[in-house]
Amino acid sequence: MKYVLENRPALAGEVNKVAEVAGYLWQKGWAERNGGNITVNITEFVDDEMRRLPPLDGAKPIGATLPHLRGCYFYCKGTNKRMRDVARWPMANGSIIRITDDCAGYVIIADQPVAPTSELPSHLSVHNYLISRGSPYKASLHTHPIELIAMTHTPKFLEKDVATNLLWSMIPETKAFCPRGLGIIPYKLPGSVEMAEATISELADYDVVMWEKHGVFAVDTDVMQAFDQVDVLNKSAQIYIAARGMGFEPDGMTAEQMKEMSVAFNLPK
Ligand code: 13P
Ligand code: ZN
Repeated sequence: MKYVLENRPALAGEVNKVAEVAGYLWQKGWAERNGGNITVNITEFVDDEMRRLPPLDGAKPIGATLPHLRGCYFYCKGTNKRMRDVARWPMANGSIIRITDDCAGYVIIADQPVAPTSELPSHLSVHNYLISRGSPYKASLHTHPIELIAMTHTPKFLEKDVATNLLWSMIPETKAFCPRGLGIIPYKLPGSVEMAEATISELADYDVVMWEKHGVFAVDTDVMQAFDQVDVLNKSAQIYIAARGMGFEPDGMTAEQMKEMSVAFNLPK
């Protein structure tokens, strides 16, 4: 068997980043069983030989027509595959797909016919949106961070920017490294087209969005950066919960301190 990562160091580098992040997700306790998924737009690494690879299986519908994905290729975590297994064997627990010419479906081209994540409609709709905006972002990550999800079990943190402002105020790094904050999406059926549409509309204003009582969806230039944004947000949630556990409501940084941060780091909000 020929492996697609063989003699393609740049592509292998991107897939290795997926494996590294998958390991972190498992170590953090954010990836129970098959929880979470990752897709990466790898089109820039695809050569003519890869473009000629025959499909391993029949074409499958995405559930939406996504015109900006014409000619695109993605690494996708496999549905029902475990992050702890992706960490060791990314190509046995995920696959590379090619978007079909009608932009409404995909075929798997390597290495094995591993069916992509059930959240593919959200991931691909987001990639379609990112391309339409000329964004340099190539990776999308969905994961189940414990403390951030816990915060969505009360209505007050579901109000616009309440969680964002609280999380930013827990430690200066959170605003510096997640400068657009956390968007909130009311509960929707996992894997649904409605979830995909709601995710896109929030990504106009945020790089990380919370799917109420489910998990976060983050985008960035690569999967490591997307992970870092979720990591700093969840660190803040842990600090908040630790203070509450010690019996007090944390003060948070003052409005002046937050403003000083935004000016010093030239932050957008
Ligand atoms: P998949 O195993 O299909 O990627 O689903 C995991 C998940 O977290 C669904 O929201
Ligand atoms: Zn999930």
